[in-house]
Amino acid sequence: NKGTYKHYMQKEIHEQPESLNTTMRGRLIRGGSSNGKNVLLGGLKDHLRTIRRSRRILFIGCGTSYNAALAARPILEELSGIPVTMEIASDLLDRKGPIYREDTAVFVSQSGETADTLNALEYALDNGALCVGITNAVGSAIARKTHCGVHINAGCEIGVASTKAYTSQIVVMAMLALAIGGNTISNQSRREAIIDGLFDLPNKVREVLKLNQEMRDLASQLVAEQSLLMFGRGYNYATALEGALKVKEVALMHTEGILAGEMKHGPLALVDENLPIIVIATHDSCFSKQQSVIQQLHARKGRLIVMCSRGGAASVCPGGASRVIEVPQVEDCLQPVINIVPLQLLAYHLTVLRGYNVDQPRNLAKSVTTE
Ligand code: UD1
Ligand code: F6R
Repeated sequence: NKGTYKHYMQKEIHEQPESLNTTMRGRLIRGGSSNGKNVLLGGLKDHLRTIRRSRRILFIGCGTSYNAALAARPILEELSGIPVTMEIASDLLDRKGPIYREDTAVFVSQSGETADTLNALEYALDNGALCVGITNAVGSAIARKTHCGVHINAGCEIGVASTKAYTSQIVVMAMLALAIGGNTISNQSRREAIIDGLFDLPNKVREVLKLNQEMRDLASQLVAEQSLLMFGRGYNYATALEGALKVKEVALMHTEGILAGEMKHGPLALVDENLPIIVIATHDSCFSKQQSVIQQLHARKGRLIVMCSRGGAASVCPGGASRVIEVPQVEDCLQPVINIVPLQLLAYHLTVLRGYNVDQPRNLAKSVTTE
């Protein structure tokens, strides 16, 4: 049931404040003077000790689920101190990459039925790793075959392009990082800031959704373009990849997500006064590096659209030339949840304006059950 919305993708983008609330329901604890703020993931509590002792954590997934894991990787590394490696499920299988008993392999999948991810799970089980699922569909193959896991509880996702599952996956993996990281004196204030940030996140998503009309205007300016680039780094490298995936899969416009640190190693050659470039430059520890990326793109007359923290337009607009998208600022590791929303809206409006099928992009299936 689409209610008042025209498309499921539109509905699912706009219901993210509610889906995030459901994802976090009963899992965040605030108050209780003795233990303060904490997270409780029922499905993992008996396995946390094993996970903490693992030599490596592998994130394994495809498409949007892989991107969500990429967004959560920095905070998991920071809070756990365990090396986290990223694996696209098909590539892990193509390489037969080594997996050991001392590894924790985390399988991220909305449907829980993706063939490549499921095959990678069988492979990791055979190699004796602890296998953890992050799934939306209760009772799905990946949920059943993993040793333990967390349901993201985002509610049924119908649009082929994943939107609300992406933001819920990131939130669950941030909670996973808090759970694995445990409470030490040295990280206490960081943990509390993240937990406070999680409580407030649905409100911040509600605010960023107000950019709907602005993104529609931007889409009408970009509607006839052949190509679009998105630059991100740090926590928002994933945002660039996921924003690009959304635009290419539904609006059928060639879009590439690029790690900004790689700009000078090739992509800079593409920059001219015609190609539109979205640069994600919200406030975090990478901000000054992103500022210099913007200056260099500007010096080559790049057609820039800069996403920045609210009130920060002046600091990202050399000569006032760029168009800006101002978003609410949240704790750095949660910022990808906010930053993807305008790009989801952009992909949606581009698709409608270009006259393509929003909920069923050509050639794609919601659940990819063959290799
Ligand atoms: C569970 C209940 C929830 C109830 C809550 C109350 C289910 C599905 N969930 O939620 O309805 O409100 O207790 O305490 O009955 N698992 C995997 N792989 C996955 C995902 C989950 O093995 O990919 C396992 C978990 O380890 C766990 C079980 O499935 O044993 C349920 O996981 P989850 O729904 O996340 O647990 P709770 O949040 O505790
Ligand atoms: C993109 C999209 C796909 C899926 C991918 C994995 O919007 O939906 O890239 O993310 O097919 O699917 P799941 O998460 O079900 O394993």
